[in-house]
Amino acid sequence: MAMILEHLPIPIIQGPMLGVSGEALVIAVSNAGGLGSLAASSLTPDGLIKAVTALRRATDRPFLINLFIQKPATPDPADVKLAMEHLKPWRAKLGLPDQAIPNQWAEAFEPQFAALVDAAPPAASFTFGILDQQQVLALKMRGTFVMGTATTAAEAKAWADVGADAVCAQGFEAGGHRGTFLKDVSESQIGTLSLVSTIREAVDIPVVAAGGITDGRAIAAALAMGAAAAQVGTAYLLADEATTSAPWREAIAVVDDDATRLTRAFSGRHARGIENRFMREMRAVEDRIPPYPIQNALTQELRAAAAKAGSAEELSLWAGQSVKLARTGSAAVITENLWRDAQAALRRTCNRWL
Ligand SMILES: Cc1cc2nc3c(=O)[nH]c(=O)nc-3n(C[C@H](O)[C@H](O)[C@H](O)COP(=O)(O)O)c2cc1C
Repeated sequence: MAMILEHLPIPIIQGPMLGVSGEALVIAVSNAGGLGSLAASSLTPDGLIKAVTALRRATDRPFLINLFIQKPATPDPADVKLAMEHLKPWRAKLGLPDQAIPNQWAEAFEPQFAALVDAAPPAASFTFGILDQQQVLALKMRGTFVMGTATTAAEAKAWADVGADAVCAQGFEAGGHRGTFLKDVSESQIGTLSLVSTIREAVDIPVVAAGGITDGRAIAAALAMGAAAAQVGTAYLLADEATTSAPWREAIAVVDDDATRLTRAFSGRHARGIENRFMREMRAVEDRIPPYPIQNALTQELRAAAAKAGSAEELSLWAGQSVKLARTGSAAVITENLWRDAQAALRRTCNRWL
C-alpha cells in the first residue's frame, strides 16, 4: 500500500480539481500510468461509494479520492445578509432572481469520511485540515494510501506525526485553493522549490511536489529535488476529459503572462485564478466576505449562470502561475508528453553536467 508512488509507471499525479477532475479524467490518467485523482468533496457519502465502485470497474490501475476536511459552518446571519447584498448586482446582470439561503453550506465531512473508509480506495488525499491518528489508521487498515497536503514544513510534520504515508508539498504557485490549515495564508506563502526542499529535510515520508509544475522541465526539477512524484493540476485544465467550462477554456487559451492572482471573492478562502472583473471589483469588500464554505455556496448559482452564459468575468477561473503552459489534447497524451519531456530534460541535464 505504501508502495503506490514507487510503483507508478509515470510519477505524475493528476491533482484533484473540484469541478474539473471527474471520473473520465481520473480513469484516463490512471490508465496512462499516472495517478488520477477524483475531487470528491462535493459528493454525498452514497455518491462517494458509487464513484469508487465505478472507478474500480473502469480501471485496474490505482486512483486517488480527495476530500476537504472542514468543520460544519455556523455563519452569523448578518454576515450572510451582507454577502448576499454584495452579490445582488452581479446576479441581476446574469438574470438571476433574488437569492435564497442555500439548504446546506457544504457536505459534512464526518459521514463522507466514514463512506471513504468503507469504500477503501487505493489512495486518498486531504486538504484544508488534518486527520487524527485514528482516522489515518482506519484508512490504512483498509489498505488505503494516505496523503496529506501541506503548505508549510510545520503542516508536513503534523501529517507525518499522525502517520500519513506521504505529504503533498503545495507551493504558493498552485492553482485553486491550497491546503493551509495551521497558520494564516500570509504566513504560508512558500514557493514550491523552497517548500519541497525544506519538507524533504523535515519529514521521513515521501514528498510529492505541487504548484506551478505544468511542463516536463518542471517535473524533472521536482524529481531532481527528491520528490517522489509531481502533482499537476493546471496542466490538465484543457484536457479533453476535464469538465472545465467553455469560457474558462477560452480564458486559458488567451491568457497573458503572469495573469493569476489570489482572491477570497468567490469562496471566502484564498484561491489562485486568472484575474477577471469579479475579482477586481469585489476587492473593495474582500475583507467583509464570509469564510469558506459560506461565500462558496452563495456564489455557486452565479458561477453556474456565468458558465452557461459563456461569460468568464464572473467565473472562478482557477489556475496556477504557469497556466500559459497548459496544453490541449487527451489526458493520456498530456500525461505521456509531460513524462517524455521530463525524461528528456533529465537526460539533457545529466549529459551537460555529469
Ligand atoms: C481548478 C482547480 C481545482 C482544484 N480543486 C482541488 C480540490 O478539490 N482538492 C485539492 O486537494 N486540491 C485542489 N486543487 C489543487 C490541485 O490538486 C493541485 O494541488 C494544484 O493544481 C497544483 O498546482 P498547479 O495548478 O500549478 O499544477 C485544485 C486546483 C485547480 C487548478
